[in-house]
Amino acid sequence: MSVGELHEEERVTLRRMMLSDVEQVLEVEHRSFTAPWSRQAFLTELADNHLARYIVAEYQGRVIGYAGVWLIVDEGHVTNIAVHPDFRGRHLGETLLRALMAECVGQGIRRMTLEVRVSNTVAQNLYRKLGFVGVGTRKGYYTDNNEDALIMWADLGANV
Ligand SMILES: CC(C)(COP(=O)(O)OP(=O)(O)OC[C@H]1O[C@@H](n2cnc3c(N)ncnc32)[C@H](O)[C@@H]1OP(=O)(O)O)[C@@H](O)C(=O)NCCC(=O)NCCS
Repeated sequence: MSVGELHEEERVTLRRMMLSDVEQVLEVEHRSFTAPWSRQAFLTELADNHLARYIVAEYQGRVIGYAGVWLIVDEGHVTNIAVHPDFRGRHLGETLLRALMAECVGQGIRRMTLEVRVSNTVAQNLYRKLGFVGVGTRKGYYTDNNEDALIMWADLGANV
């Protein structure tokens, strides 16, 4: 995959997140969310949650984005997706989400869901582009500001 404006001879690679990535993941996390996950949350996900799959986008040895999903029976629940602010708008978020969707399809999963802040129109645009549709809200889901979550679902059939 080549990414506009990045050095052409370098590639962005996607691979599984490892415990050794967590410090760099946290930097992206803190630049991306008002209520970031803790170090322990990521460590627990990687070490103990056998339902979880996390991937990173790496560029020049640096983690510049990541995404995760829980594989729960026949559903994929997106837990987290973020791209470092310096690298947004180059279809990395889309690439990460498509990779999660492909992972789910590979596991025989045909539906995915996620929650997103009702104010986060950028992320909602990404999700809608890849086939997610809003089906309802969870009132006050985000405890830092009592914001509602939009619940979205995607049928994976035709969009991967
Ligand atoms: C949401 C996020 C992961 C998107 O990553 P990104 O790499 O910048 O997005 P992409 O370049 O892949 O864009 C994919 C689509 O998202 C939408 N999008 C991206 N940036 C947008 C912007 N600034 N304004 C409106 N829509 C936008 C568009 O639909 C875009 O498709 P298009 O380029 O064909 O129009 C990134 O903005 C981010 O990390 N945000 C902070 C963390 C976050 O909110 N995560 C989601 C939590 S639910």
